Amino acid sequence: MNRHINQPQSYEEVLATDTRPVPDYIRKFGNKVEGPYEIPTRWYTDRSLFKDEVENIWKRKWQLACRTDHVAQKGDTYIYNVAGLSFVIVRLSDDVIKGYWNSCLHRGVPLRQCAGRVTRLQCPYHGFTWGLDGRSLLIPNPEDFPHINPEKFSLPEVQVAVWQDFVFINPDLGAEPFESYIGQLDSQLQRWPYSRRDVSIHVTKVFACNWKALQEAFMESFHVLTTHPQLAFSTAGDRCNDFSAFGNVSRGVLAIGQTSDYVPISPDEQYIYTRLNGLWDDEEVPAEMKLPRGTTARQAFAQRNRDVQRAKFGAIVDDACDAEAVDVHYYTIFPNFHPFGFISAPFVYRFLPFGDDPDKSVMEVMFLTPVPENQERKPPAEPIRLGENQEFVEVTQLGSFGSFISQDSSNLESIMRGLRSSQTKVANFGRTHEGKIRHFYSVYEKSMGLSAADEVAAIRSKSG
Ligand code: FES
Ligand SMILES: [Fe+2]
Repeated sequence: MNRHINQPQSYEEVLATDTRPVPDYIRKFGNKVEGPYEIPTRWYTDRSLFKDEVENIWKRKWQLACRTDHVAQKGDTYIYNVAGLSFVIVRLSDDVIKGYWNSCLHRGVPLRQCAGRVTRLQCPYHGFTWGLDGRSLLIPNPEDFPHINPEKFSLPEVQVAVWQDFVFINPDLGAEPFESYIGQLDSQLQRWPYSRRDVSIHVTKVFACNWKALQEAFMESFHVLTTHPQLAFSTAGDRCNDFSAFGNVSRGVLAIGQTSDYVPISPDEQYIYTRLNGLWDDEEVPAEMKLPRGTTARQAFAQRNRDVQRAKFGAIVDDACDAEAVDVHYYTIFPNFHPFGFISAPFVYRFLPFGDDPDKSVMEVMFLTPVPENQERKPPAEPIRLGENQEFVEVTQLGSFGSFISQDSSNLESIMRGLRSSQTKVANFGRTHEGKIRHFYSVYEKSMGLSAADEVAAIRSKSG
């Protein structure tokens, strides 16, 4: 290992190099992460456990359903499917959005098969009909259903919360309010909120991989050195990264402009800057990429990012400190929503089980572009659904971002085979760099009534 003495040794030291005042919220979030270091591999592979996840997670936790723009007008509907369950989101008025179980009370056909604008919710099978407010409007041949009281035949609702133009639902009517569920996250995303942003790119892909294993690839930067070796010089200074958690939310910080300790030479700042700008050894450094004297690569890259993002965010980017301009702050709201902070990463991820198959899951990436006050909103981009053999890198709108996700994907398509071949039957997580994953499993254990420590001890005692 090579400790680069010319570089900061912690995120605190990185922040000390900032050219602007660093807002308090960057330093203040949660506590150091806690959670199991070992979990049984069956948590990824066991089909009966997946059924428990449906009951304890997908029917009980707050989860992202859509953006408010997906139901922009009265009568707009949007379908949210997860883990074999289906929900329909409906706008009733400017201020009211409701969510229902997407299941006809007659014989269970989904009331809506796809998004669209309607004046009422009519089942396509026999025509039972409900108002947008969920009240029964029509029972065909009512004399045939003497046991049904139309007054008590309303659609079962789910809880709905709108936060920064995201629509969340919770099927559990007794669950805690969304605001307390996300806790401190609200104050973390106040300066660069996701409200008044258009869904400009939306890409989805189904992976042959359990949903938890899939999202774990996006909950740590520990894999950067081997999975994205092109970033080793500029984005892999692991000692400078930071991990914390509070309640149902965790935060990882990837400090930009730092070199991995596993790179044997200490590069100069010009070299780091060149790498940050995506140039390689054999390319000539153009004049505009020459680092100004007395400036670090990180500082110059921050200014470059402000200049790029000004077109989207407006002049407010000039208030962004270097950390806000370049670092990646990546949050996870249990169980599956991953918004990024700052101006450096204006996108969110969502990871969902695919149908009721524990071996398949969906990754979604939504780019959310700020819309200036005087500008018209655009309808949300239609999802680009990548096929089994298509890669994120093929989506030209994603630029170099797509190639990173494709690199991440390469590990994931075979991971179930590896997990099922595990002879120790145990997966391990590191203290710091995989802290977000440990935090996830601390919430998961509680939600599922499981204990990783007990199960791992039982595995060890069985194997002698
Ligand atoms: S199943 Fe819906 S009307 Fe019959
Ligand atoms: Fe990655």
